Amino acid sequence: MLVPNRFSKAVEQVRASGRWVLDLTASNPTRVGIEGNETAILDALTNRKVLDYDPDPKGLITARRAVTDYYSERGELVDCESLVLTSGTSEGYSYIFRLLANPGDEVLVPKPSYPLFEFLAELEDTQLVPYALIYDHGWQIDFPSIERAISERTRALVLVNPNNPTGSYVNPEERHMINRLCAEHGFALVVDEVFLDYSHEPSRHVSFAVNHQALTFTLSGLSKIAALPQMKMAWIAVSGPQSPVRQALERLEIIADTYLSVSAPVQLAAGVLLEQRRSMQPRIMERVEANLKQLDRELGQQHSCVRLLVSGGWYAVVRVPVTRSDEDLVVELVRECSVAVHPGHFYDFPEDGFLVLSLITPEQEFREGVERLFGFLM
Ligand SMILES: Cc1ncc(COP(=O)(O)O)c(C=O)c1O
Repeated sequence: MLVPNRFSKAVEQVRASGRWVLDLTASNPTRVGIEGNETAILDALTNRKVLDYDPDPKGLITARRAVTDYYSERGELVDCESLVLTSGTSEGYSYIFRLLANPGDEVLVPKPSYPLFEFLAELEDTQLVPYALIYDHGWQIDFPSIERAISERTRALVLVNPNNPTGSYVNPEERHMINRLCAEHGFALVVDEVFLDYSHEPSRHVSFAVNHQALTFTLSGLSKIAALPQMKMAWIAVSGPQSPVRQALERLEIIADTYLSVSAPVQLAAGVLLEQRRSMQPRIMERVEANLKQLDRELGQQHSCVRLLVSGGWYAVVRVPVTRSDEDLVVELVRECSVAVHPGHFYDFPEDGFLVLSLITPEQEFREGVERLFGFLM
């Protein structure tokens, strides 16, 4: 049974008492006051073709072409035959774990990172083995921890590029070293790029969808790229050496054929839905940058907390003094100041003293929230 944790219980109690909670954990882009082109979206979903059923296990070719157009605009040539559509990135992970691992086989995952891996792996009887990201003038992959984590049962290594919530991209040198490890030990790469386009830096980050050195499964989807999580369409792009890619695609097609999970209306609307990124991404980035500036202004007025460097994504990590556990801190914060922020341990930070703030929070709510947060911590 799913039991609410102490933090969500505290949020519920404060709300039930009639107090408004400033929510700095917002991750649902449909609820932060940034809307796409409503008419275009609704028109695209009322195509007469939705009345027909003509399934393709990998996804309708028109929808896959919309995805390859997205990549080619980034300067990355992806073949639509190498794409498999899924209802979400989460489902994409399940397909890949199913494909690569027998019960008890191992997949290496970064720590800290996105908390859903644990549930996804458990559902597929896959063992997760963490490797570390360390913070030293920015986030880096701790390669010795990968070496220690590799075993005979390792089937894949997961990268989140940029990682959630650290906002760190895999740099070219790390990419080279990871490819070498995959080739040496014969495991595959699974790369989650849902936040790829949300870079805070001018430098270009090349997608792993065009990684040719190792068998690579790159995951992304409408949920973050077009800020449309409710549409439930994502994709797996398979790249790497020809023969393993061909075999993987044949087997993925069988898994996808078993479920045929992406609805026809969404696939038929995929082009228009993906187009929403043109208006949504700049508006989200504007929000993210404004909130980051506001956070830095507040941080500039005190000496006990610092923000960790962030290169991309929707989150900021703040290092705070360890006067109690992060969980106790966030529970007190919500009870005393009506501000909700995530504790680092939700993302598997190895120690206390980290808070995660969502930068897509509406600006006024964010400003008031961080004012109260640092007022409380001072
Ligand atoms: C890093 C990362 N990957 C995947 C997902 C889930 O994406 P989807 O909605 O496509 O399942 C999320 C959701 O927040 C995420 O943060």
